[in-house]
Amino acid sequence: MARRKYVVGNWKMNGLSASIADARAIFAGVAGHPAVDVALCPPFTLLGAMAAVPGAVVGGQDCHRAALGAFTGSIAAPMLADAGASLVIVGHSERREGFGESDGDVRAKAEAGLTAGLSVILCVGEPRDVRESGSAIDYVLAQIAGSVPDNFDPQRLAIAYEPIWAIGTGLVPTVDDVAAMHGAIRGALAGRFGAAADAMRILYGGSVNGDNAAELLGAADVDGALVGGASLTSAKFLPIVEAAAVLG
Ligand code: 13P
Repeated sequence: MARRKYVVGNWKMNGLSASIADARAIFAGVAGHPAVDVALCPPFTLLGAMAAVPGAVVGGQDCHRAALGAFTGSIAAPMLADAGASLVIVGHSERREGFGESDGDVRAKAEAGLTAGLSVILCVGEPRDVRESGSAIDYVLAQIAGSVPDNFDPQRLAIAYEPIWAIGTGLVPTVDDVAAMHGAIRGALAGRFGAAADAMRILYGGSVNGDNAAELLGAADVDGALVGGASLTSAKFLPIVEAAAVLG
């Protein structure tokens, strides 16, 4: 089935109120590419302001597994929705590694996002030593088995394959390695969800930029990109959206 290309910017812990001007420029440019789905995930503090930008589609970078309660400093999925978000990223490696989140935690967060009516981007990806040992596919498929929920609308859950060693490093896997991983992920999803898995998008993330986007987005089973550093300005982000639009 034809899946719409999906390009998502993850601003991580970057952006002050002045950065809304960058989001404005990005969504103004995105308006020229209606066949591509584009979203930005700013820090929580900018969600409301960014959601008010014309044409904006915004998401959170994480959520708590509970809908409310005594969890100082945390943000619940219904709060993201209330602030104008339509999606949430869960299981980013910077959360799995930096905050000790397990597959079970990630699954609970994905379920919380879906229950709150959000779309979910669920991240997986192997560290460098696992890639070098030749077991990257087994590692990622175990993450998928442990963190993807059972019951959901397949249109509302995307997987982002982000090899940890490629994040923020300028290193990217070969297109063949990306295609092999995405094919393995698609096979695992099809094995678990049958034909419904056809509707699930699988994004690549890790040092995507305007120069490599066409090649990476053109690989088999790559339905889009999750972009960090190159999503902060329109000058860097729009060429990636344009590459996706050409591949349509
Ligand atoms: P970079 O694009 O900066 O490598 O970050 C990728 C990423 O982690 C997106 O979630």
